[in-house]
Amino acid sequence: GKVMAVVPAAGVGSRMGTNVKKQYLNLIDKPVLLHTLEVLETCPDISGMVLVVAPGEEALCRSMVQGRGFTKIMAVVPGGDHRQTSVYHGLMALPADTALVVIHDGARPLVRAAEISRAVQAAAENGAAALAVPVKDTVKVVNEQGLVVHTPPRSTLWAVQTPQVFRYELINKAHLAAREAGQLATDDCALVEALGHPVKLVPGSYENIKITTPEDLVLAEAFLRRRE
Ligand code: CTP
Ligand code: MG
Repeated sequence: GKVMAVVPAAGVGSRMGTNVKKQYLNLIDKPVLLHTLEVLETCPDISGMVLVVAPGEEALCRSMVQGRGFTKIMAVVPGGDHRQTSVYHGLMALPADTALVVIHDGARPLVRAAEISRAVQAAAENGAAALAVPVKDTVKVVNEQGLVVHTPPRSTLWAVQTPQVFRYELINKAHLAAREAGQLATDDCALVEALGHPVKLVPGSYENIKITTPEDLVLAEAFLRRRE
């Protein structure tokens, strides 16, 4: 079966606070989303990709990728109000012979093809895998008044990134169960975890940041220039 990518890029970028949505902001020479798609395009494990954008932005997005040598973009589909809904719409657009699904945020342009391949390999073996890095800061659990409730030991905490890679049947089942239960999660692994299925974390890179706030663009540019 094929390894297919779903790229959620339908968010509004409220934490970035710019007029232009963060996935379309310029990063050195092109929009963030184009950087991301180029890495997926060059990853030899991936056969095709489905791009999920805000409803009404499909044509804009098709013209952005047009003439740039992409061969793997199979569809551009409208997303939903939440990341989870957008991913679900992407899953619905995948061909029936899909074996593995690589879910990767449009807002993570710094991932490397080799890292994607490592996650794909781990998912082929375990059913579910994601890139992750050990957290650097100590993390506090707080209540609504901002008072600390407890401090989980840092050595047990990993910050999960994308890609998150799953067997096709497993991720479909997880999304359907979540919709049924009204579960809304910020990542796809959480939906698979809710089924009781183990998720393998694959050590990734601290460079694979999600462009979220303005500082992240400064970092992303520095990382890209360091690679040149
Ligand atoms: N995303 C999506 N559909 C949504 C919300 C988010 O496809 N309804 C995508 C974003 O475009 C991004 C990824 O999911 O590529 C990670 O989400 P996040 O960083 O939270 O992006 P936004 O939701 O756009 O930003 P914010 O939460 O600051 O508004
Ligand atoms: Mg968001």
